[in-house]
Amino acid sequence: MIGSPQSPAPQDPYYTLPNEWDSAAERLALLGAAYDPESITLAESLGVTAGSRCLEAGAGGGSFARWLCATALPGGRVLAVDADPRHLTDLPDRGGEVARLDLTTDDLPQHEFDFVHTRFVLLHIAQRDTVLPRLARALAPGGILLLEEGDGLGVLNEMPGAFGEVWRAFARSTELAGANQSWARNLPAHLEALGLIDIRANVEIPVFRGGSQMARMWSLTWAQVHETLTALRVSPQVIATARAELADEERWFYAPPTVRASGRAPRESVATP
Ligand SMILES: C[S@@+](CC[C@H](N)C(=O)[O-])C[C@H]1O[C@@H](n2cnc3c(N)ncnc32)[C@H](O)[C@@H]1O
Repeated sequence: MIGSPQSPAPQDPYYTLPNEWDSAAERLALLGAAYDPESITLAESLGVTAGSRCLEAGAGGGSFARWLCATALPGGRVLAVDADPRHLTDLPDRGGEVARLDLTTDDLPQHEFDFVHTRFVLLHIAQRDTVLPRLARALAPGGILLLEEGDGLGVLNEMPGAFGEVWRAFARSTELAGANQSWARNLPAHLEALGLIDIRANVEIPVFRGGSQMARMWSLTWAQVHETLTALRVSPQVIATARAELADEERWFYAPPTVRASGRAPRESVATP
């Protein structure tokens, strides 16, 4: 976790980048465009195909759920859930199902899915250690759980310039709201402790150009959390500089690492409570 032992404990966890923000649809579309290619390649390698029964948890802008619909349907099932599913309204027309569901409190179907997926969701949820076993219980025997979650700490201190300063404050703001920017590095152990088998994991650090989709996504992120950043004593000038750097096509940046970990439910029994 970021911060000293004196850091205020998260009293009232909340999601720092709510989907109701004016430009959230654009930001989530950029996130999907930047990360879907890797997610799709991995999902295909794990066997997602026509007829797969899929649960997309924390579906956000829905780009990956749309790919699941195009791939698994007809014949399979795609259930996309989110605490705020306002950007998922087109999924039923594609044959998918949408549910407004808080992963921390609401029940999920059990033992019904061949593929359960999250991307940049669990790191934000303070109750992630109770949500994870529930996602595992949603797996049918032989089903795959794939988690793609950010791990900010490995490169945080290496990020130079205004981008680095803003990223460090942003990461801290998420942790004050209940996120954990270093939890993802233990994903393989978490999956194994749940009784999943065939564990696979890797970490990728995207390197991206200013002006790219990933750069525009981060620039919009700094716009969405502008007030929070200034409350953490980042000056508006530094935020403006960081956004200008992100628009500069001659600059290259490190993104926070993405940990991708998957595990399979045994054929004979499913994960622990
Ligand atoms: C960073 S976005 C990622 C969206 C999508 N997975 C992607 O990668 O494009 C995180 C999503 O998780 C959702 N979320 C956060 N906390 C949640 C909770 N407790 N229950 C359900 N969804 C939640 C948010 O509403 C948001 O749509």
